[in-house]
Amino acid sequence: MECQELHIPDNPQYRELKRIIEEYRNVPGPLIQVLNRAQRIFGYLPREVQLYVSRELNVPLSEVYGVVTFYNFFKTEPVGKHIVNVCLGTACHVKGAQRVVDALANELKVEIGQTSQDGFYTLSTARCFGACGLAPAMMIDDEVYGRLTPGKAVEVIKEFQKNETNQN
Ligand code: FES
Repeated sequence: MECQELHIPDNPQYRELKRIIEEYRNVPGPLIQVLNRAQRIFGYLPREVQLYVSRELNVPLSEVYGVVTFYNFFKTEPVGKHIVNVCLGTACHVKGAQRVVDALANELKVEIGQTSQDGFYTLSTARCFGACGLAPAMMIDDEVYGRLTPGKAVEVIKEFQKNETNQN
């Protein structure tokens, strides 16, 4: 798709992004800041938003794409309410972390980096978050869960979701 063909919906999110781009227009090297603010507005950076930023800042799309893919805090897929981060570092790997990931992916019906249909969980992986003594380990947001088996990991995410649903 050419930038000129980009159809921008006239909605508050794009109006806010436009305002931010105006704010940063004369700042040197504004791309990362603008993308960061765009991600806060949209929750992630879909292709349309990348095209819009490229066009409005007059920066080649390849440069926008390069920045988005280089920094892993930029997301190109919608992010769920909670992040399930399974460690695939060495200690966790040798204790079966891959089977834990596979079980979670199967349970949530997603691949790594994707979000469950209900928007509750995004499945992600990491390289050691310093809980090697608890291998294999995963985090849900900031909370560590260790000594997992595939079955236990699935139980943890079910229980977590049940508790949160009951609280609301
Ligand atoms: S290798 Fe998994 S927490 Fe360190």
